[in-house]
Amino acid sequence: MYAYLLSLLCGAFWMLLVQDVPAGAALDRELAAAMELTPDIASGERLYRKLCAECHGEDGWGSTGGEYPQLAGQHRSVIVKQLADIRAGNRDNPKMFPIVEESQMGGPQAIADIAAYISTLLMDSFPAAGEGDRLPEAEVLYRKTCARCHGLNGEGNFDLHYPLIQGQHFRYLLRQLRWIRDGQRKNANPDMAALIRQLDDADLEMLADYIARLEPPAEKLSDK
Ligand code: HEC
Ligand code: HEC
Repeated sequence: MYAYLLSLLCGAFWMLLVQDVPAGAALDRELAAAMELTPDIASGERLYRKLCAECHGEDGWGSTGGEYPQLAGQHRSVIVKQLADIRAGNRDNPKMFPIVEESQMGGPQAIADIAAYISTLLMDSFPAAGEGDRLPEAEVLYRKTCARCHGLNGEGNFDLHYPLIQGQHFRYLLRQLRWIRDGQRKNANPDMAALIRQLDDADLEMLADYIARLEPPAEKLSDK
């Protein structure tokens, strides 16, 4: 009995020690501050062209090979969260990390400005998709396991910071799904990770293919 109580106490103490309270709190503060500030879209455009366009493209479409995600069309709240996470080391991104450091990019105002500018960009009408060989099966699985958070058409959720995933490039989607399943993305949603741990590579491939083909509403799409 005593041994049991002692182990409970030690467990609680250990949890206190390992919890990274200050870093987590700083991240939450930055996220909240960037969401509350009034964005300056012109400043966001300047910063975007200077710091981001080289990899994500002037149009924000990323690369069809999937190395760089399409940012156009993404919810402002999601861009803000991902930027704050990457800066805080809560999502590893060695290529981008040096560019979004506070000394290079600026503070929460810069995050707010850039995210607001990105949310004005229209999306690629022809994102890269997969083989298209298992779409009906993928639709059933998507609707059963993913739609309650990402929406029936992959539109995500602004208020909850759930990403819009419709029309994202296939290879990028597939990489994120694998990383989230295999524990390589620190900011993964735990409920989502638990669900996709039950899926194999072929399942993830058909899901990524299906999601890349979900069509955004016409007003979000570029006519180019
Ligand atoms: C040197 C190349 C590079 C530059 C410059 C860069 N990024 Fe990225 N960015 C990446 C890569 C690579 C990824 C995808 C990482 C991964 O696969 O997890 C990414 C991912 C992102 C994501 C997450 C997207 C998502 O769907 O979750 C956001 C948001 C983002 N970048 C915004 C920006 C902004 C804003 C800037 C400019 C301030 C910028 N990036 C500059 C390479 C870059
Ligand atoms: C419980 C809610 C929930 C469920 C269910 C869920 N997700 Fe997610 N998903 C999230 C959240 C939240 C994120 C972003 C995590 C973060 O950065 O905080 C995310 C991230 C993603 C990303 C990365 C997006 C990007 O731009 O980097 C993809 C792709 C994705 N989810 C696909 C799926 C698929 C496919 C399923 C079904 C197998 C699924 N999700 C189920 C909540 C969920």
